[in-house]
Amino acid sequence: MSPRADEAGTGVSPRPGSADPDRRETENARTRAGEAWGTRIGLILAMAGNAVGLGNFLRFPTQAANNGGGSFMITYFAALLLLGIPLMWIEWGLGRNGGRYRKGHLPGLLAAVWRHPAAKYLGVVGLVIPMAVMVYYTYIESWTLAYAFFSATGDYWGRETQDAMVGYLRSFQGVGEERVHGVLTPFLFFTVTLVVNIWVVSKGVAAGIERLARIAMPTLFILAVLLAIAVLLQPPSAGGDTPIRGLQFIYGPDFSRLTDASVWLASAGQIFFTLSVGMGSLAAYASYLSRRDDIALNGLATAATNETAEVVLGGTIAIPAAVTFFGVSGAVAIAQSGSFNLGFATMSVVFQQMAGGQLLGTAWFGLLFFAGITSSVAMLTPILAFLREEFGVRREWAAWGLGGITFVLGLLHIIWLEHGFLDEWDYWAGTFGLVVVALLEVIAFVWIYGPANAWRSIHEGADIRIPRFFKFVITYVTPVYLLIILVWWGATDALPILGLSRAAGGGPVVAATLPYIWAARAALLGMAMVFLVLIHWAWRRNGYDDRAGLPEVPELQGGDRA
Ligand code: ALA
Repeated sequence: MSPRADEAGTGVSPRPGSADPDRRETENARTRAGEAWGTRIGLILAMAGNAVGLGNFLRFPTQAANNGGGSFMITYFAALLLLGIPLMWIEWGLGRNGGRYRKGHLPGLLAAVWRHPAAKYLGVVGLVIPMAVMVYYTYIESWTLAYAFFSATGDYWGRETQDAMVGYLRSFQGVGEERVHGVLTPFLFFTVTLVVNIWVVSKGVAAGIERLARIAMPTLFILAVLLAIAVLLQPPSAGGDTPIRGLQFIYGPDFSRLTDASVWLASAGQIFFTLSVGMGSLAAYASYLSRRDDIALNGLATAATNETAEVVLGGTIAIPAAVTFFGVSGAVAIAQSGSFNLGFATMSVVFQQMAGGQLLGTAWFGLLFFAGITSSVAMLTPILAFLREEFGVRREWAAWGLGGITFVLGLLHIIWLEHGFLDEWDYWAGTFGLVVVALLEVIAFVWIYGPANAWRSIHEGADIRIPRFFKFVITYVTPVYLLIILVWWGATDALPILGLSRAAGGGPVVAATLPYIWAARAALLGMAMVFLVLIHWAWRRNGYDDRAGLPEVPELQGGDRA
């Protein structure tokens, strides 16, 4: 399919939202210039890149180890079937439907299916959440770039114990007493990572994001397969532990913790994070599809690719490696000792024991970087779409402007990491917030737009027919599941965290961290206020009538998808 960019190039910059339909059409062409997927394989790779990320290789093994291995996997697959895959179709459907109105952001997507003045304001969560997650996610992504560099140069070689590598990690993060790295090192890697991200999105959907995915996705799969093989070939340790023992720990059916609600919540949280549902980024990508494009099969293919990367590859690297060298109880203790200790500290210890360890270490952190960047560029897309579609901001300006804001917010994370600033954002935006967005999407797309309309919309241009059972799932099971999670999490996590009886990162709240926790919350609320004002302004500026519905724009022409 040739990009819809052909329509651009008028050189005219009409004011968006002009009542004149011809002007609106030109404006549509301009702000969507270059913003269509080039090919079907490119689309699937970009969507899979959106989903496959640090969550697959870092978060998944830690969560699985923390929540009982085999028990976690049973609840994980239940969440995949009843939440993940249905929400994947819902986000694609909602997104593509929004594209008819030239909308790739949640305020617009909700307004497209729900003619109520509140719809657009509720959509604010679909701007705050990807923006917030993007900021701290890019920061963590920058650690992977740094560690790829440290592995290639052998910087940490000789620190062969877990404690030594945890000290090294803490030094890099600028927390704790030990100082191995220069104080500017994390800032440098963060800046480089952010510049690469912004440069990619500034190039547009086809020339930037899709091109990145075409390189990064095959590369990361090849690296992951090589690493998985290298781990599986490890001989038994002195204590007799083997990689197979690690595989048994994750994949061996275990029903012992199925009555533990926290395992169900953790697995649902993992499904959200790993598939990128509730972040608004899948819907933003889908808004660049036409009604002739399949979303039923492509959505499924995206979920399947993500699960292969997570369960097959993500499950075969970090845990088996940790179990071989530290035993099952050692691996579980490591996972419980901190979110990043397994992926950064333990793996760095393990590579030092393996033949070709420096290369393998570079491959591991390089793979994490590729996985991360294809997701972080996706998180920028809804905000970029909002600025471009509602205010006519040029893509490059919007991208570099957002880059500047991300840089400033990222500095707060770097400086205040040890005070729980990142944990606070990760909880409210990256965990609880995803469920809120997902619930809003289901209510708007399935209940308000109507189950029949939603089902028909998902099947427009479809290459497969989804089993009817899923119509029942998306209408009743998914929303009820989401409500249960929200209420349960609300009671067991959100309220205690909000009331400061527990820290977002776990453990008690330390008095000295209180100002930082409030600063983190104020920053999120401030972001929400700014977006609310912008949404209000955009609707007035563009003359949208909430009750009459958004103006539909003519579908831009293009050839058939290759
Ligand atoms: N889905 C992305 C990940 O797994 C955000 O990291």
